[in-house]
Amino acid sequence: MNLEQARQKLEKYGQLHVLDYYEGLTDEQKQELLKQIDETDFSVIRYAENPHGNQVRGKITPLGAMEISEIEKNKEHFTEAGLKALREQKIGAVLLAGGMGTRLGSDDPKCMYDIGITKPVYIMQRLIENLMDVVREAGVPVPLFIMTSDKNHEKTVSFMEEMDYFGYDKDMVRFFKQDMAPAVDYNGKVYMETKYRIATSPNGNGGWFLSMMKSGALDRAKELGVEWLNIFAVDNVLQRISDPCFVGATLESGCATGAKVVRKVTPDEKVGALCLEDGKPSIVEYYDMTPELLEAKDEKGQPAYNFGVILNYLFREKDLERIVNDVLPVHVVEKKIPYMDKDGNEVKPEEPNGYKFEQLAVDLVRELDTCLPYEVLREKEFAPIKNKTGIDSVESARELCKANGIEL
Ligand code: UTP
Repeated sequence: MNLEQARQKLEKYGQLHVLDYYEGLTDEQKQELLKQIDETDFSVIRYAENPHGNQVRGKITPLGAMEISEIEKNKEHFTEAGLKALREQKIGAVLLAGGMGTRLGSDDPKCMYDIGITKPVYIMQRLIENLMDVVREAGVPVPLFIMTSDKNHEKTVSFMEEMDYFGYDKDMVRFFKQDMAPAVDYNGKVYMETKYRIATSPNGNGGWFLSMMKSGALDRAKELGVEWLNIFAVDNVLQRISDPCFVGATLESGCATGAKVVRKVTPDEKVGALCLEDGKPSIVEYYDMTPELLEAKDEKGQPAYNFGVILNYLFREKDLERIVNDVLPVHVVEKKIPYMDKDGNEVKPEEPNGYKFEQLAVDLVRELDTCLPYEVLREKEFAPIKNKTGIDSVESARELCKANGIEL
């Protein structure tokens, strides 16, 4: 792309300020900036005009879960079915680790965060240890795919190398990178990171399958015989990954998706709840819960939208290929965006200062026809680390780890 083409593209999206420093750049820097302008999808910026109103929701109705009592009755049977699939290498685990973890506020990727007290215990280590439990039970390694982004790829890979993959079979691990999106101020103007770089951030966890496909990681999965992909978040240090009982229950259910859920503490707890939307499985976010939905009861008199998702889903690979070109909604998220100020100084804001644009994995569930909500005990399986202190923090996760006999 030459300067004139760049100017035209930027003008179309109201972003001409990106070229403010152009004349003073070196030839190399000019080329870098032009390349980035060429590759950036500025069309998402229009969503900033109406940050909360981009998604038109359908009719929300309740979707019950397979509850713990029912799972317990069938535990042996489901576990055997799950172990069989794992031994046939039909299950791949996909770690979504491309996020910036801005709330935690560490400069390193979240997976490198040390939650130990008397010894180092890294978040990644906890995840690998949990996955190793399944590897030991099944007697075969589970292929592990790790999604990173431009912002944390190198550090994540070298950390894993340095830690010798925490004892995991290195040949069974494959990294792939997700895409980026521009980050803007509240007026919809892109921030500059430097005089020759637009500020970008990972474009949400919803594009994981497309990125896996584009990178060749999906081909590798298929070569190994993988038919189902278990995606999970980096920050839940009690996460059970490729859990045989969950795998077995989902496969036997005939559903295209399985979703681990926990019982909500209160109907208005800040987690997305599984539901049906126009008759299809979906997730209603806590901020979309109307008073009617909050008060609704099921036939047992329990709150009807009582099961919150914990970002642990099992997807049938074939179904994802079918829907890969469907356009997912773009969510406008308020975040802290580091940028360069008018005087050329780097600023790391303490408070949110603009918007990022994200597609979310939860929206994939809506594209598929059937989903098995599978209840797990939050005290045993849900210790998310979003913040340093308080709710969903390093502190709360440490308490939960200790309660589960994990030495820190
Ligand atoms: P979060 O919603 O917690 O986002 O991600 P985040 O960006 O990591 O953290 P904050 O909001 O800035 O503090 C949930 C999961 O999705 C992954 C994260 O790594 C985490 O496992 N994720 C998020 C991606 O893989 N890519 C993204 O673009 C965003």
